[in-house]
Amino acid sequence: MEYTVKNGAPEKQKTQCLIAGLSAGELSGTAAALNEAAGGLLATLKKRKDLSDKSGDSVLLSYVPELTAERLMLVGTGDKAMSPKAFKAAMAGVAAKLKGAAIKDAMICLDDFDVEGVDVSWKARQIAEAVERTFYVFDQFKSGDKKDKPALTKVSLLLAGRKDANAAKQGLAEGEAIGSGVSVARTLGNLPGNVCTPKYLTEQAKELAKGNAKLSVKALGEKEMDKLGMYSFLSVSKGSVEEGQLIVMEYKGSKKKTDKPYMLLGKGITFDTGGISLKPGAGMDEMKFDMCGAASVMGAMTALVELDLPINVVALIAAAENMPAGNASKPGDIVTSMSGKTIEILNTDAEGRLVLCDALTYAEKNYKPKALVDIATLTGACILALGHHISGLVANDDELAGQLLEAGEGSIDPAWRLPMNEDYQKQLDTNFADMANIGGRPAGTITAGCFLSRFAEAYPWAHLDIAGTAWDSGKAKGASGRPVPLLVQYLMDRAAEA
Ligand code: BES
Ligand code: MN
Ligand code: ZN
Repeated sequence: MEYTVKNGAPEKQKTQCLIAGLSAGELSGTAAALNEAAGGLLATLKKRKDLSDKSGDSVLLSYVPELTAERLMLVGTGDKAMSPKAFKAAMAGVAAKLKGAAIKDAMICLDDFDVEGVDVSWKARQIAEAVERTFYVFDQFKSGDKKDKPALTKVSLLLAGRKDANAAKQGLAEGEAIGSGVSVARTLGNLPGNVCTPKYLTEQAKELAKGNAKLSVKALGEKEMDKLGMYSFLSVSKGSVEEGQLIVMEYKGSKKKTDKPYMLLGKGITFDTGGISLKPGAGMDEMKFDMCGAASVMGAMTALVELDLPINVVALIAAAENMPAGNASKPGDIVTSMSGKTIEILNTDAEGRLVLCDALTYAEKNYKPKALVDIATLTGACILALGHHISGLVANDDELAGQLLEAGEGSIDPAWRLPMNEDYQKQLDTNFADMANIGGRPAGTITAGCFLSRFAEAYPWAHLDIAGTAWDSGKAKGASGRPVPLLVQYLMDRAAEA
């Protein structure tokens, strides 16, 4: 997709589709200019109520002879400034309409959209994100004619004045980077378990590092993890013929090479059968999405590289397949983690925390993280608590939690913090080891967080449970790419502080 910024009069633009906002109030700005040029068209439309005043509603007019634009799309903006969320929804609607009409190039009159509490660059970013999201296709396993070939190749933003042009350009670049990060995460998530294996994730990470001097990637296999005493991780991967991988991606963007890194850690269970604590059969295919935490880390790293942010970031991906097998872990098995703490595996389906905990220790021993955020499709309980709208957040550090909540708000990829204290920690007590890997049914998301917190005592740590937000089910089944926007916003905010 080509993105550009233009200045000029709306009625004189050459484009297949000019997109203008129409507020419920008096015609002004672009709308007034277009109305005048087109002989009162917009006023008539309003009078006849052919476009409702509701924000986000739109009409596509195929022929307006007085305009140099081939078509005119009018988008209702409501009777006051739009909320950021309403603007995002409206732009998704615009993109869908462009796709439906197979329009090749479009121009959006950005000044028309008055959005509460955001600047030009934020609006531009949302537009690019919406376009990337809408025109995403995953058809590599469909044979025959690929009907869905999208037409749009160019999007321009029209500004009345010149002063916002740079901000708009910056926003478009950010939106494009976040958009490609989201697409990377969606594709990795959507790939089936027989393609997207732990080794495949390693290959993709290495692919991303190719030709980028700031990014280097290595992966530890099971032999190396055995040497490091990562027996908790290995207790999961050993039941599969696919070799477990701890993928390490180091990005050096900071001027000071020695700056402590921000760290990301993704759960990369490329398929979660539950192991010997086997999951029920219905809907089990969706457990190919159990690597969406890892996918979001790859997506965030893609955007980070594209944006060339001036910070140091180290990303880890704990990748394994959770299978039942003759040599798989059994309920009651006890393993020693890399930290030395012992774990009684009461349920082999609580495997995510078993791979993550050793990665958390690996982070402590090899880096001095400024902060570490892990991202995981960790608990079904998170879906019961927050549904599919908001990701769960558990943290041992208020500042980090606050930064992530703010990043989620700002990128419209929200998270909600859950409490964590000694009372919940006690649910992990067992007679036979330092801790059990499950804490019973009550507060399952929090006790999973408690488990992880025991391996992240040395640095500010936060955990995002994306079990409810990483993918959609039903007819629209597919990975969502969340929480890539949140993660990239968080990293951009840290870069802005630097
Ligand atoms: N990957 C699942 C969590 C999950 C389930 C995410 C459904 C999205 C949809 C995780 O490995 C798991 O199985 N968790 C168990 C934990 C339990 C055994 C304590 C769960 O949530 O049931
Ligand atoms: Mn599981
Ligand atoms: Zn899982």
